[in-house]
Amino acid sequence: MSRNVLLLPGDGIGPEIVAEAEKVLHKVNDQFGLGLSFESALVGGAAIDETDTPLPEETLEKARKADAILLGAVGGPKWDSLPMAKRPEKGLLGLRSNLELFANLRPAILYPQLASASSLKPEVVSGLDILIVRELTGGIYFGQPRGVRELESGERQGYNTYQYTESEIRRIGRVAFEAAQQRGKKLCSVDKANVLEVTVLWREIMEDLKREYPDVELSHMYVDNAAMQLVRAPKQFDVIVTGNMFGDILSDEAAMLTGSIGMLPSASLNSDKQGMYEPCHGSAPDIAGQGIANPLATILSAAMMLRYSLNEEKAALAIEAAVSKVLDQGLRTADIMSEGGQKVSTRDMGEAVLNAL
Ligand code: IPM
Ligand code: MG
Repeated sequence: MSRNVLLLPGDGIGPEIVAEAEKVLHKVNDQFGLGLSFESALVGGAAIDETDTPLPEETLEKARKADAILLGAVGGPKWDSLPMAKRPEKGLLGLRSNLELFANLRPAILYPQLASASSLKPEVVSGLDILIVRELTGGIYFGQPRGVRELESGERQGYNTYQYTESEIRRIGRVAFEAAQQRGKKLCSVDKANVLEVTVLWREIMEDLKREYPDVELSHMYVDNAAMQLVRAPKQFDVIVTGNMFGDILSDEAAMLTGSIGMLPSASLNSDKQGMYEPCHGSAPDIAGQGIANPLATILSAAMMLRYSLNEEKAALAIEAAVSKVLDQGLRTADIMSEGGQKVSTRDMGEAVLNAL
């Protein structure tokens, strides 16, 4: 059975880090006889430059057919002045919505080897292991109507719509409850139910779902408080479930608790377990092309891809163990460099993981 992986390097550091993850995937493909075949395509700014659109039809076609997708990153200052509909980010959002990748899993794990990289005290973050489940194809990101209109007064007004249907809430809720069942059995649903009706409904549905998962302890938290609790006492959380925009914000915050956003992978899944996997960090245009970016988040995203979409747990574990080993060896890219570490390039880090496999 041959399975197809689509590589979408994208912009900025994307091509450099995806190249390393690709080598790692080729290696486990041989080692474990996975029968994977690989294709690549353009997305984001790279696609705009070639085809004038951030998500060419050909890319979308390949994405639909792929069993799994590995994406680097999109965006950069070069395209920032384009109109909204033509920006690189639309390529990413278009893939998410066209493939209905509604469930975004963003783990924030503190690697013991990197404990000193966090800006918080070691006792606050040591052992940190949170999973943020972010709804990814609805909410204010996609709600209609949206735009900038001119009022009768002649003044312009920008507007977006924050909306969720019951079924959208229910399906992301189920993913989160099931994830909690596999972990610490604690789920915190984050909303703004003191102000926004859409999240009053969100809370109601989560409460409703609780009856199906009696082994999971459900709590609710307003998003402002959640932002505070994440830096005050992050270890109180196991799984967090929230809507698209709150999840965007809180997942960056949670990632930074670990001190190394360059280490964190993510998965975006649809109901067929088809998925797109990407590092949590962005395209980092300021360091693109210098060969200093950290490829580990992308390599760990490849591991997540093997686990969730390709059902190859052994190969996933092998990659994760190899990453842990290179950290033990003291190898560090610039973003996770600390005293006593050995500073290495993107390519050296990729090579080290290959050797550790
Ligand atoms: C993310 C990013 C994207 C988002 C951008 C690039 C559109 O910040 O994946 O978190 O807002 O979802
Ligand atoms: Mg974000």
